[in-house]
Formats: sequence, structure tokens, C-alpha cells
Amino acid sequence: MGEYDKFEVVITAIIVNSEGKYLITRRSKQKRRFPGMWTVPGGHLDANDFSLFPKETEHYWYNILEKALKREIQEEVGVEIDNVLYVTSLGTIHADGAPSLVISVMADYVSGNVKLQEEETDLFAWVSLEDAKDFKLIDGIYDELAMTEQRRKGEKVEWQRFETASQTGCYSSPKVEVRESATAGKGVFANENISKDELIFDFSGGLGDMISTQEAHELYKSGNDYMIQVDDNLFFAATADADVETCDYLNHSCDPNAGIKGRLKIVAMRDMLPNEEITFDYAMSESSDMAMECKCGKLNCRKKITGDDWKLPELQKKYNGYFSEYLQGKLAS
Ligand SMILES: C[S@@+](CC[C@H](N)C(=O)[O-])C[C@H]1O[C@@H](n2cnc3c(N)ncnc32)[C@H](O)[C@@H]1O
Ligand SMILES: [Zn+2]
Repeated sequence: MGEYDKFEVVITAIIVNSEGKYLITRRSKQKRRFPGMWTVPGGHLDANDFSLFPKETEHYWYNILEKALKREIQEEVGVEIDNVLYVTSLGTIHADGAPSLVISVMADYVSGNVKLQEEETDLFAWVSLEDAKDFKLIDGIYDELAMTEQRRKGEKVEWQRFETASQTGCYSSPKVEVRESATAGKGVFANENISKDELIFDFSGGLGDMISTQEAHELYKSGNDYMIQVDDNLFFAATADADVETCDYLNHSCDPNAGIKGRLKIVAMRDMLPNEEITFDYAMSESSDMAMECKCGKLNCRKKITGDDWKLPELQKKYNGYFSEYLQGKLAS
């Protein structure tokens, strides 16, 4: 190992909130290692993290990981954590020859709104294990989350490959196909009868990336609008041409026949006949400063649709049970 005979020590925290969701962050694009990849927060440990404080016993400082981590997490993501428990350890030798030891722990979220240090991480999300599959996580992190989920259920497990969190493509019902639409460009059409509440699409597992509102705006300006909002500052988007799938051709209508279930599922809001265009209302998922001129041609067309339409009482009534999990949460609060 020569000049690199000392380990770099990194501590990372899988922070769990009261809803059982995990905090993940996206590493800034300027980072040398894993730029733009999603991970869990953490930082380096060095001797100054404990040596500046009084020793707990005659010879030793205790709880050094716990204390250093609490400070690091407060600095990096602005939240207070507690109940730090060991999860696993991992090591690597970086390309520059530096060996690195990572100690991965889990901890409970206590308080504070997430506030990021832009030079470290530029986007965050609280995710369930299922949600985590839609993020480009550094390899191994999904399994750490899966392992933590088992630990929380009282199971004694070591790190292992649980399931590869791969994006295999959006689920698309075999009863639909892409055709030219009278509303805008292409759309999705039924080619068989579809029953009320039948699953049509599941964007989860679809090709694409989770991006910020700012990035979504830029993408929209460049002529790409294959995205769906999932949180205040989070959109699931087909960012590259190769990511565009059947589900991405779903158009908006002010009198839609489909709605949203959960986070990313599109279901029929009523029975549909063959050749009907399948549409949803952007008011079911969007809460942003977007605005679009609508050409749906329906009698009740709002002409201009905006990211505030979900607040309209008549739409809240009409789409009751068909808003995305994200908006359903906002409506309940
Ligand atoms: C998710 S894409 C749908 C697929 C799109 N029609 C295509 O051919 O690529 C969303 C974009 O379709 C267009 N669009 C969808 N619904 C529309 C509507 N009701 N009125 C006008 N344009 C619409 C807008 O350009 C919007 O940004
Ligand atoms: Zn309309």
C-alpha cells in the first residue's frame, strides 16, 4: 500500500423517518466520485472528530462514530438524528490507490427540514424501499436499504444481494398502443375494452431519471416533456430519447378517462372502448409553476392548464381517489 497505508474512514447513515421512509441524496455533478448518483448521506471521519473533546474513560473516547455522524448529518442535510445502529461495512481501493473503509449505519430521523449543501448533494428524496428502485443509486445501496428494512422487522441479516434495482421499462397494458392523436402529436389508445380501475401503465421501473423542478423546466424548454411529478422538487423523466416508452405518450385531457393510483400507476377511471384515446389530467400529479395551453377540445376544457389546478375544488371532487400519492398527501395536509 506504500504511501496509502492509512484507511480513509467514511460513515454513512440510512436515516429512517416516522413513515418508514429513507433519506437519499443525489451527489452533485462536480463530485469526483459517483457524480449525479443517488446515495445516502455521510462523510469522512478523522481524529479531530473526537480528539478535540474530553475522553470518556482514562484512555478512550467513546461513541465517536455516533457523535461525528450526528454532526456530519446536521451539516450535510440539516437534520437531527438519533439511535445510531450498525448496519454493514464496505471497502474499496479508489482509482488513485487510496483504500477506503465505509461504515454504514441506520439512524432515526428526529427533526429538521432537509437542507442540502449544494457542493455535496443537490437533490433529495424520502423513499420507501419500493420507491428506491426508481433512482440511480450507487450499486449496493439498494441492498443496504433492503437489509435495513429487514433489520427494522427484527430479522438478523448481513448485507447480501437482495434484488437488483434495475429499470426494466414501464409496464404497459397489452390493450394499448401509440397512435397519432387529434390533440397533440402522438397519444395512447385502447385497442380492446378496458374496465374501470384496470392497470394501464406503471411508470415505476420505467426508463429515466429522477430530476429537479429546475431540470424539468430546462428539459421542457428543449422540447422534451416526458415526465411526471412525484414530489415538491422531484420529477420522474425520460431524459434521453432512448428512455421514451409507450407510457410516455400519454396526453392530458380536461375530461380524462384515466387517473393515478399510488405514486406512478395509471388506471382506468371508467370503462373504455377500443379506439378511445387514453388520457389523464395533469392536475392529478402536478403542483408546480407549469402552464400549458390545452387543445383537448372537450366541452369543459380549461384552455390553460397550470400546476395549481389540483387546488380547484371541482377537480378535487371529480378526481377523488385518482390523484397521485404526492398530491393525495398534499390534499390531506
Ligand atoms: C407526455 S407528452 C405526450 C406525448 C406527445 N403528444 C408526443 O407526441 O410526444 C406531453 C406533451 O404532449 C403535448 N400535450 C399533451 N396533452 C396536450 C393537450 N391536452 N393539449 C396540448 N398539448 C398537449 C404537450 O406538448 C405536452 O408537453
Ligand atoms: Zn383541455
